[in-house]
Amino acid sequence: ASTPVLAGKKVVITAGPTREDLDPVRYITNHSSGKMGYAIAEAAVAAGANVELISGPVALTPPAGCAIHRAVSAAQMHQQVMQNIADADIFIATAAVADYRPKHLAAQKIKKNNDELTLTFVKNPDILKDVANLTNAPFTVGFAAESENVETYARNKLASKKLAMIAANDISAQGLGFNSDRNALHVIWNGGDKKLPAASKTVLAEALIKLIAEQYNKNNSP
Ligand code: C5P
Repeated sequence: ASTPVLAGKKVVITAGPTREDLDPVRYITNHSSGKMGYAIAEAAVAAGANVELISGPVALTPPAGCAIHRAVSAAQMHQQVMQNIADADIFIATAAVADYRPKHLAAQKIKKNNDELTLTFVKNPDILKDVANLTNAPFTVGFAAESENVETYARNKLASKKLAMIAANDISAQGLGFNSDRNALHVIWNGGDKKLPAASKTVLAEALIKLIAEQYNKNNSP
């Protein structure tokens, strides 16, 4: 058999949603199931990589053969990524990280004493951007979930976040994306792009890992 395409490479992957606490009983989150990220972790293991999977709260069993690190909030996920990113060859950010968190975490349950409730949010750290800006940054792959102008936003994100590659998906497409077993991706890198048509997340993950390995090996061959 031939050598697996990512043999011995260290691949760090984020997956799932994050959860931002409001008070001891309530939190803000999103519909990410973690399926895409877990499928990518499985495909990376199959391609011979040493995988560090940094996961938000999901109801999935981690793929065999990868190291799992749990995070709940965006701040915790950021910390876990930074602790595991040294010597990484490839970073793939599939997590749907909350862009904002409540400014104040109430120590006690918020009471319904008023007819209106106003919450103030502050921005969370951008994990993907921080990794892409490291000195000796790994080959960094982002995701772009968009409901309109998918390609334009994805190309802007590729450039502004200094990514090596971006996988864009249209979250308005019926039966695809968030919480679904299927998805479709438009993968864009500097110098090329490829549309991966609607398929199971398992099939897409294998195709994406193949593209990542091709571009990574092209950029890093002696
Ligand atoms: O800018 P936007 O949030 O749409 O970018 C999405 C990409 O950035 C995804 O790859 C996501 O995992 C990553 N991201 C992140 N940390 C954040 C926000 C997004 O890693 N705080």
